[in-house]
Amino acid sequence: MDQPDPDDKAARPPIAATFAAVLQRRLSRRRTLKGFGAGIAGLLTGTILGRNATAASPSTLTFRQPPHRVSETLSVAEGYRADVLIRWGDKVLADAPAFDPGRLSAGAQEKQFGYNNDFIAFMPLPLGSANGSRGLLCVNHEYANAELMWPGVTGKTLREKATAETVAVEMAAHGHSVIEIEQRDGRWRVVENSRYARRISLRSTDVAVSGPAAGHPRLKTGRDPSGRLVRGTLNNCAGGVTPWGTVLIAEENFNLYFSGEPEMSDEAANHRRYGIGRARYYAWERFDKRFDVTEEPNEPNRFGWMVEYDPYDPASIPVKRTALGRFKHEGATTALTPDGRVVAYSGDDQQFEYLYRFVSAGRFDPKNRTANKNLLDDGILSVARFNADGTLDWLDLAFGRGPLTAANGFRSQADVLIETRRAADLLGATPMDRPEDVEPNPVNGRVYVMLTNNSRRTADKADAANPRGPNRHGHVVELIPPGTEGDHATAAQARHDAARFRWEIVLLAGDPGNPEHGARYHPDVAAEGAWLSSPDNCAFDNRGRLWIATDQGTAWQRNKIPDGIYACDLAGSGRALTRLFLSCPTGAEAAGPCFTPDGKTLFMSVQHPGEGSTFDDPSTRWPDFKADTPPRPAVVAIVKIDGGEFGN
Ligand code: FEO
Ligand code: CA
Ligand code: CA
Ligand code: CA
Repeated sequence: MDQPDPDDKAARPPIAATFAAVLQRRLSRRRTLKGFGAGIAGLLTGTILGRNATAASPSTLTFRQPPHRVSETLSVAEGYRADVLIRWGDKVLADAPAFDPGRLSAGAQEKQFGYNNDFIAFMPLPLGSANGSRGLLCVNHEYANAELMWPGVTGKTLREKATAETVAVEMAAHGHSVIEIEQRDGRWRVVENSRYARRISLRSTDVAVSGPAAGHPRLKTGRDPSGRLVRGTLNNCAGGVTPWGTVLIAEENFNLYFSGEPEMSDEAANHRRYGIGRARYYAWERFDKRFDVTEEPNEPNRFGWMVEYDPYDPASIPVKRTALGRFKHEGATTALTPDGRVVAYSGDDQQFEYLYRFVSAGRFDPKNRTANKNLLDDGILSVARFNADGTLDWLDLAFGRGPLTAANGFRSQADVLIETRRAADLLGATPMDRPEDVEPNPVNGRVYVMLTNNSRRTADKADAANPRGPNRHGHVVELIPPGTEGDHATAAQARHDAARFRWEIVLLAGDPGNPEHGARYHPDVAAEGAWLSSPDNCAFDNRGRLWIATDQGTAWQRNKIPDGIYACDLAGSGRALTRLFLSCPTGAEAAGPCFTPDGKTLFMSVQHPGEGSTFDDPSTRWPDFKADTPPRPAVVAIVKIDGGEFGN
C-alpha cells in the first residue's frame, strides 16, 4: 500500500521520561561498547564492499555479496541460485483455476496461493523425519494490496474503490497455504494434487477457540453465541512451529480491518488500546457487518491470538490458543525447558509495545504426539522488563496477582488475556521498539529479538534496551537464559522458564558511516560487510549463525539500501559483522526465512513487490516481467549451486 507501515501507529498511552531511563541509557552505552571490543582486530582487515570475505576476515561467512542497492529484480550471493517456487495466484488446491490477473474472483483465490506471503515453515515428510528434500511448506498470507491487484486503484482510493467483489477477493487472499514440495535434481517443485494441500482463509475456514478465554461472554457475537468458533484468521504475519510438529500462525494487525464506533460499547477502552475502529485501507465493514464494531463490538476480541494447526492433517480444525495472550502477535516461536515444558516467545509489533513469554504447565511427550495437543492451553504468560543492569525480569500476567484484580477491572484470567496489553502496562513492562521475530537459537540456546524501529521514541525516552531516540533503523537484542552463559552453551541447558535472564545488544542497525544513525556493529561492516535497517524476521543455520530478513517499509527510498537477507556470526570474532546475502526487488520486504533441516535450502518470502506503486504503473513486474501481469508476492527457494550447506 502507498502508506506508512501499518505497524507504525502507537496506540499506547505516552510514557513519561524518567531520570531512571536516562541513567539506563548511560549504563547501556558503557556496556555495549565493551561488548563490541571483540571485533577491533578486524579493523585492519577491511576490504571493499562486494569482495569475498578473505581468510583474514573474522567472518565465517564466505559468500560474495550481491550489490548493496535497490533494483527491480531479486539478487542473491554468487554461488547460489534463487528459484521462484510459488507465486500469488498459483494453484494450491487440485481444482484451482489458472491465475488470470484481469479477472480475479474470490472462488478462484480461495483455491490459489494467497497474497503477501510472509511466515514460512518447512515441515519434513514423513512426519517426524528430518528430510531436507521433501516436505510441506506452510505459508502465511498477511494482507492484500488492492492498488497492485486491480487497475484504477491507488493508495488514496482503496476504501472508495472497494466493491463486494474486491472485498471478497481480499478476504480470500488472506490466511495461509499448505503445499507439498519436493526437490529433484537440485530443483524444488510443488507436488500437484497433494493430499496435504490446504488453504486456510478468512471466508471459509472455521477456527476453534481454546484456553482460558474460550467461551467468555466478551468473545460471543450474534453469529457465534458460543464464543468458541471464529470464522477465519486475520493478518497472519510470522509464526513458529512446535516440537510436536504443528504450526503456529500469528494474528498481527487485526485492528486495520474494523470500522465503526467503538465508543458505543462496553469495549470502548479495550478497543482504544488496540487501535480498533479506524480502518484506513480496507472497507470490509461495508460488506460484512462483523467488521463494523458498532454492530458487533465483540468481534475484534476474537482476533489478535496465536493460531495452532496440524499441517499433517488437512481436515484438522485450527485453534486460537488464548493462553498466549491477545496483542499484535508478530509470531510465536518455541523451545523446551530442560524438564520438557514448552516455552513460546512472542513480540507485540507496535511502537512501545512488549515482549512476552508463555511457559506451559504440562510437559512435552516425544513419544505420544496426541498427548501434546493442548499443551498451549495451560501455563503462565509473562511480559519482559529490561533492567539497566543487563538483567531481564519476566513478570507474570496472572489474574489475582499484583494489580491484575477486580479493582482494575479484571474478573478472571480471560479478562487478563483479552486485555493483555493493559495488564502488561500495569505490571510495568518495558516498552520496546516494535518487537518482530523473537527466536530461540537452536545451537546456543539464547533468544534473539528483532526490534524493527521506532521513529516516535524521543531521545529522552531512550533506555538501556532501546538506546536510541528516534530509532529509525532498529536493533537486535540477545536474551541469555540461565544455562547459556559462555561460549560453549547448548540449547538443551537453556532455562527458558527462569524468572530472570540477562541480555545484551548484538547490533544497532543503520549506516555505520553516518554518525547521525548511531549504528553499532562489528567495526568491519563499513568496509567488508553491509549495513542493514529494520530487522524483522530471522532464522538460524545449523551453525547457529543469524540470518535477518529486513523490512524498511517505505524508508528504503531514504536509506537507499535494499530490503533482503543479511547474515552474521553470533559467536567468535565475527559477531555482528553483517553481510548481504539476498536483495529483494523494488518495494518488497524480505520475510519468512526458513532453512531445511539439512541447512541446504533457504526458503524466503518476497512480500509486496512494487508496494508504493500501482497496478497501472508498477515499480517492478517481478517475478514474471510480463506486460499484462502485475508484480506478484512469491516464495523463493535458494540453494547453493554446488549442493552444499549455506554460508560455508
Ligand atoms: Fe507483519 Fe510485524 O510485521
Ligand atoms: Ca510483513
Ligand atoms: Ca514482520
Ligand atoms: Ca515489519
